[in-house]
Amino acid sequence: MKSFLNVQDLGELNAALREAAEIKADRYKYDSLGKNKTLLMVFFNNSLRTRLSTQKAAMNLGMNVIVLDVNAGAWKLETERGVIMDGDKSEHLLEAIPVMGCYCDVIGIRSFAGLTDRDYDYAETVYHQFLKYSGKPVFAMETATVHPLQAFADLITIDEYSQKMGKRPKVVLTWAPHPRSLPQAVPNSFAQWMLAADVDFVITHPEGYELDPVFTAGACIEYDQRKAFEGADFIYAKNWSCPGVGKYRADYGKILSKDMSWTVDAEHMSWTNNAHFMHCLPVRRGMIVTDDVIEAPTSLVIPEAANREISATVVLKRILQSV
Ligand code: CP
Repeated sequence: MKSFLNVQDLGELNAALREAAEIKADRYKYDSLGKNKTLLMVFFNNSLRTRLSTQKAAMNLGMNVIVLDVNAGAWKLETERGVIMDGDKSEHLLEAIPVMGCYCDVIGIRSFAGLTDRDYDYAETVYHQFLKYSGKPVFAMETATVHPLQAFADLITIDEYSQKMGKRPKVVLTWAPHPRSLPQAVPNSFAQWMLAADVDFVITHPEGYELDPVFTAGACIEYDQRKAFEGADFIYAKNWSCPGVGKYRADYGKILSKDMSWTVDAEHMSWTNNAHFMHCLPVRRGMIVTDDVIEAPTSLVIPEAANREISATVVLKRILQSV
């Protein structure tokens, strides 16, 4: 595997889930696979879980790890071609990338959407520049439009907890309010991975928040949140800004609603089949979810974060086996 952005990059999903279970049973089973191999993690944006879990995954496989925080200690990087660099950016990504590639064997990229130029974001411009100019395998640690390590961890978690249910689960992705404009990477990937998995999947959000059909083709979209929640086994809450689909194109990246009736509280959860609550974290309590729901025994926010180590170990293992 030379690139990891989408669910298809992982191949057959059940095989990946079996591999995840194997790693979870013995996370050091492949601890010599990464001997004398170096992972470079490049962060254009903040992180807690991705940084720690991916580094731990690399260590599970015996890799060395270098972390670069582009906005803290490195030269400020220009990412666009054709600009006159007379501002505060001292180095262009097109030189920086091949240099980074000299020092490592695998590169992970965190680079969020700018949320101003939809075409630039949805082309995954920064990610593809790394893929083209580094000469190394590259994987997404949340890029402009996708967060596959998170979605894979979420799927592992749903798979684990639905085995205990003994039935095909109903999984609901619900939009929830947030004070700031957030990217669509997490809901895009979650939708893409759920549609590839053996689950009944429903998306619910206010009008204008329709995700790009590239990620949601075939999904059931229900604008009535209560109807969507009925019979749900898993509620996955997330905020996202306007994805700019169809007549909402000019609203790309904007906040169209802060309707607090969408906040997931105990009443919302009472509409479900005693559902598990999920969120990728970090989460704003009181906006996305109430304290009682996130702290309930049915909340899976910690197990899904723990599974980030497992998803990253599987992905890095696949990449190492291909270099
Ligand atoms: N869920 C997630 O990616 O968390 P971080 O932003 O802290 O890495």
